[in-house]
Amino acid sequence: MSVPQTHTGRVAVITGAGRGIGQALALGLAARGATVVAVDLHYPEETMALLTAAGHTGMGLVADVSDPVQTAAVGMRITQEFGHADILVNNAGVFPFVDIDDLDYDIWRRIMAVNLDSQFLMVKAVLPAMKAGGWGRIINLTSNSIVTNAPGLSHYMASKMGNIGFSRGLANDVAPFGITVNAVGPTLTITPGVREVHPPEALVAVAQAQAIKRNGRPEDLVGTIAFLSSDDAAFVTGQTIMADGGYAR
Ligand SMILES: NC(=O)c1ccc[n+]([C@@H]2O[C@H](COP(=O)([O-])OP(=O)(O)OC[C@H]3O[C@@H](n4cnc5c(N)ncnc54)[C@H](O)[C@@H]3O)[C@@H](O)[C@H]2O)c1
Repeated sequence: MSVPQTHTGRVAVITGAGRGIGQALALGLAARGATVVAVDLHYPEETMALLTAAGHTGMGLVADVSDPVQTAAVGMRITQEFGHADILVNNAGVFPFVDIDDLDYDIWRRIMAVNLDSQFLMVKAVLPAMKAGGWGRIINLTSNSIVTNAPGLSHYMASKMGNIGFSRGLANDVAPFGITVNAVGPTLTITPGVREVHPPEALVAVAQAQAIKRNGRPEDLVGTIAFLSSDDAAFVTGQTIMADGGYAR
């Protein structure tokens, strides 16, 4: 089946694109015609190889998205290379389990920096190039964990609630420029990051709490984010969509 070319001519910047959900989004938006800028802590070698193998063009960039200097450099590089940026998917995030007794200020700050500050910093870095094009789509990854009862995630839930608040507020500031902002929340999705921290029994329990009784796959996020980053979603902004298999609340 051919994929509709809804994203032809769009430059799509995706953070944390080296693996997991970010990699699936890079491949999914490229398949719809976007030129992907894949940003990650390390050069996103595997993602770039997969893009090339599928016949797509793109650019891999190395940056810590919690760092104001590195994110500003990403913005400048995109402007130099393309002159505009159309889509920003703030996907990079970390989710270590840390009980409140072990949660110190350094861990708290690090989680806020990577999961929340990064979304602000990348918006600041990319917004001038987005305004230059007079059209834009910003999508911030949140998580359905904010409505779960999982212990050891107070820092993560706080940051992921922040992603929703930032999206709602920012939507008002950028609407005059033809730019929409939405948040998307996956359920527990089988990615390299999840395999590092979740025991197999936790995966089964989450799947059982969903209407659709299987764990998420990175590809499950592509359709929602492709829609939100398309022309079709021009009147959808400030919203949060939980693409989570119908997790029970
Ligand atoms: N996988 C899930 O179950 C799940 C559920 C809900 C929400 N999410 C959210 O989805 C996003 C992606 O999750 P994932 O499971 O694919 O993670 P993952 O750990 O598999 O991949 C994350 C990628 O982000 C990159 N990254 C981490 N910190 C970075 C930084 N400071 N700068 C640049 N890149 C950085 C990593 O190098 C990695 O390539 C996160 O925001 C996460 O909170 C994931």
